[in-house]
Amino acid sequence: MRAKYDEVAADYDEWVGGGSALDDPTFTELTGEVTGQEICVVACGQGREARYLATQGAVVTGVDLSEKLLEMACLHEETEPLGISYQHGDAHTLEGLADDSFDGVVCYMALMDIPNLDDAVRSMARVLKPGGWFVISITHPCFKTPATGEIVDHVDQSVRRTVGKYFVEGYWDGPGAHRNALPVGAYHRTISTYVNTLSAAGLVINQLREVPADTPVWREVPQLLYIRGSRVGRVLGSGVL
Ligand SMILES: C[S@@+](CC[C@H](N)C(=O)[O-])C[C@H]1O[C@@H](n2cnc3c(N)ncnc32)[C@H](O)[C@@H]1O
Repeated sequence: MRAKYDEVAADYDEWVGGGSALDDPTFTELTGEVTGQEICVVACGQGREARYLATQGAVVTGVDLSEKLLEMACLHEETEPLGISYQHGDAHTLEGLADDSFDGVVCYMALMDIPNLDDAVRSMARVLKPGGWFVISITHPCFKTPATGEIVDHVDQSVRRTVGKYFVEGYWDGPGAHRNALPVGAYHRTISTYVNTLSAAGLVINQLREVPADTPVWREVPQLLYIRGSRVGRVLGSGVL
């Protein structure tokens, strides 16, 4: 499987702040107290959320498809060792990671980049201990769709986000429309697909956060969606016990 982030690894590393740890109050709140917990960071990229969790006392394993981003993660780990173990792998299988082995699983800003949601979510559920927790963040699927734009309200000049093609699931990439400097496309899914896929894998949602950003249009509607939940039961084949 081609690792598209290999092509933009240096730009991405710079864009997300090099070797610094993730600084995201919503992520901090949702992951909570993690001291001593074993956490798998799926699609960890250059490791920013792995570093945050390790600084909070977690024992972290990061997995990503992009060897270039992983090289950067390892370099950051060499410069400032936090005991993070990084491995090259595919989120669709999480091959090499044992069933029922992690207290928590995190997938931060990455499910939109992963082609098969069902396989990725099932793998996350598989490596979680029964009762273990997960935190996911994604671009908000209701407001970042394959056809979005911004218009100015003719009455009060405020800016509105326009949304179309919400029900068109699958890969999309508008030239310059998505991530501008980082020409990597994304997979759009409806919010019901996300919820139903988690549920089918035996993952229940405990909390949602819809997070705006500090621009006129993103103050009015959420830019990001965060989900915290936990694993119930054991995933066997295509069913959940
Ligand atoms: C937007 S980046 C997020 C990286 C990191 N979580 C962060 O927030 O900086 C998306 C990540 O998903 C990874 N990715 C995409 N498909 C993957 C797959 N099938 N298995 C593992 N990682 C994958 C990419 O290599 C990239 O690192």
